[in-house]
Amino acid sequence: MLDPFGRTIDYLRISVTDRCNERCLYCMPEGYKGWAQRPDHLTAAELVRTAAAASGLGFRKFRLTGGEPLLRSDFVSIAAGIAALPTTTSLGLSTNGTRLAPVARELCAAGITAINLSLDALDADIYHRVTGGRLADALAGLEAALAADFEVVKLNVVLMRGVNEDQLVPLVRFAAAHRMPVRFIELMPLTRTDVLSPANFLSCADARVRIEAELGPLETLPDYRAGHGPARYARAANGATIGFIGALTTTDFCETCNKLRLTADGKLRPCLGRHGEIDLLAPLRGGEADLTALLTEAIANKPADHTFQADYQPDRPMTAIGG
Ligand code: 5AD
Ligand code: SF4
Repeated sequence: MLDPFGRTIDYLRISVTDRCNERCLYCMPEGYKGWAQRPDHLTAAELVRTAAAASGLGFRKFRLTGGEPLLRSDFVSIAAGIAALPTTTSLGLSTNGTRLAPVARELCAAGITAINLSLDALDADIYHRVTGGRLADALAGLEAALAADFEVVKLNVVLMRGVNEDQLVPLVRFAAAHRMPVRFIELMPLTRTDVLSPANFLSCADARVRIEAELGPLETLPDYRAGHGPARYARAANGATIGFIGALTTTDFCETCNKLRLTADGKLRPCLGRHGEIDLLAPLRGGEADLTALLTEAIANKPADHTFQADYQPDRPMTAIGG
């Protein structure tokens, strides 16, 4: 389906929970208590029904995210249900990896094709400072993901000046050694205000300068795509494929946007960086939901671009929207 700006919208990112076993600085405000209550979380059947309606509109790409999706005990049935839809060509999972090791093969068999694993540092202390979790758990998940048969496994790193700045080069070397793409993401204003101080912000351009200072010039790959998102890619001399997601500094960031988001509590979000939402939960529970019409309405309401600069959203942190 085309949105009002001529963009093809065929990608649905589904948050299956707002809960998480970590508490990343950039995602979850300290003391966050907004957990959707159980009855407000869409059930596996409701999630698959919504994805099926999207499939009917030609959606081909789906991603399951959160919170930490693997905290849901019915995760495999959600994944299998969406993988089985006739139009599904890719089904991604965004995860912190800490619960991935025991289930990686099962997820692959259920139809997950791509894993995005958050890895903000290779130093255990820095990793703990950013996430509150244990690096060893995430690395065990990563190892299991690489050993399974996924089409692609990528690393996600949120850029924070003075926090994980000195981890960028080690992460690029690590990604090269494991032949997997690494993506550096600019900090978006979806968490605590103290984390969002300008002093913590590191742009993709500055990150690139830092990497080039140690690893030599990067070769820009204008046409390369490792996924379905807005990353722009470059190649390092050591072979690493590096994605830059300049959500705040790239002026044409939104021009190729192809997605809608569904929050764990059943709201369709046309744009991550704007407040607008369309409720699916009440219609779904009311028994007369015309999901096709609601999805079409969300596409018709897609704005041209985000307003992160002007529209800070303290009431809806990343963990409640879905990364
Ligand atoms: N800014 C940028 N990226 C974020 N993520 C989570 N919160 C933010 C934020 N405020 C990213 C993490 C995670 C993915 C799902 O979203 O890298 O891997
Ligand atoms: Fe959890 Fe992911 Fe948010 Fe970190 S970014 S707190 S791992 S949901």
